[in-house]
Amino acid sequence: MQGLGRRAAGAPVLAALALAAGGCSVKGADNANLIAGKQQFVAKCGSCHTLARASTKGIIGPNLDEAFRQSLAEGLRRSTVRGVVEGQVLNPNPEGAMPKNLASGATLRDIAAYVSQVADRPGQDTGLLATAVAPPGSGKPAVEKAGKLTIPASPTGQLAYVSNKATASAGPVTIEMPNSSGVNHNIAVQPGKSGPVLGASSFITKGTTSVKVTLKPGAYTFFCEVPGHRAAGMEGTLTVK
Ligand code: HEC
Repeated sequence: MQGLGRRAAGAPVLAALALAAGGCSVKGADNANLIAGKQQFVAKCGSCHTLARASTKGIIGPNLDEAFRQSLAEGLRRSTVRGVVEGQVLNPNPEGAMPKNLASGATLRDIAAYVSQVADRPGQDTGLLATAVAPPGSGKPAVEKAGKLTIPASPTGQLAYVSNKATASAGPVTIEMPNSSGVNHNIAVQPGKSGPVLGASSFITKGTTSVKVTLKPGAYTFFCEVPGHRAAGMEGTLTVK
C-alpha cells in the first residue's frame, strides 16, 4: 500500500462521478482512457487478479473488488484507490509474487483509472466500456480440418480460449494451441467433464503447442491445466462426430 495518499489530495473526482452516473463517457479523471485501461488491465493484470467488471478471474493476487471494499465503504475516495494501484504497480513488494515493470506512463494511468472506477462496483460496464473486451470464449467455434484442430488461447490475456466450442470428426486429431498472450497455458482433453485426461500439450507463454489424441464420437472437454485457469473459465466443449 505504498501509493496510499500519494495522490490523495485534490485529485479530480468529478469526471469519475460523471462517468459512474452517465456511463456514456469513456474519459476518466485526467482524461485517462478507460477503454484502453480496461483492455490493458485484462492483458497485464487479469490473469492474476479478479475484478468483476473486467470479467477477470485470476487467483494469484488479491481479488481487487475485495481489496478495496472495506476502505471504500469507510469513505476512501476513488482517486486515492487510483494512487494505490499506481503505487503498487510501480513498487510491488519485492518479496511478493507481483512482477515489476508491468506498466508505466499512460498505460499505467489508464489501468489505474479503470480499476479505481470499477473496483467493488456492482453491475456491469455500460456503453463502449461494455464492448472494450470480447466476453471470454465468445469467438467462432473451432472446426477440425484434415486432422488438425486449432484452438488459440485468448490473445487478450483472459483466462479463456478464443472459443469455448469445437467440433471434430472421429479418429486421430492434432489439437494446436497458439498462445500470444504472454500468460502460461496448455490444452488438455478429457471425455465428458471429468473423465481421465487423454492427452495434454506442454505449457507455453508464447508460441504454439500441440497434443495428438485419437477420439471416438462423443462429448469431450478441452481445458487448461494451469492451477486456477479452468476454474476461471478456461475450458470448452469438443463435439466429436
Ligand atoms: C503474476 C501475477 C500478478 C500480476 C500479473 C499482477 N499482479 Fe497485482 N498482485 C499480485 C500479488 C501476488 C499481489 C499481493 C502481494 C504483493 O503485494 O506483492 C498483488 C497485489 C496487487 C495490489 C494490492 C492489493 C492489496 O490488497 O493491497 C494491487 C492494487 C495490484 N496488485 C494491482 C495490479 C495491477 C494493476 C496489475 C497489472 C498492471 C497487476 N496487479 C498485475 C500478483 C500479480
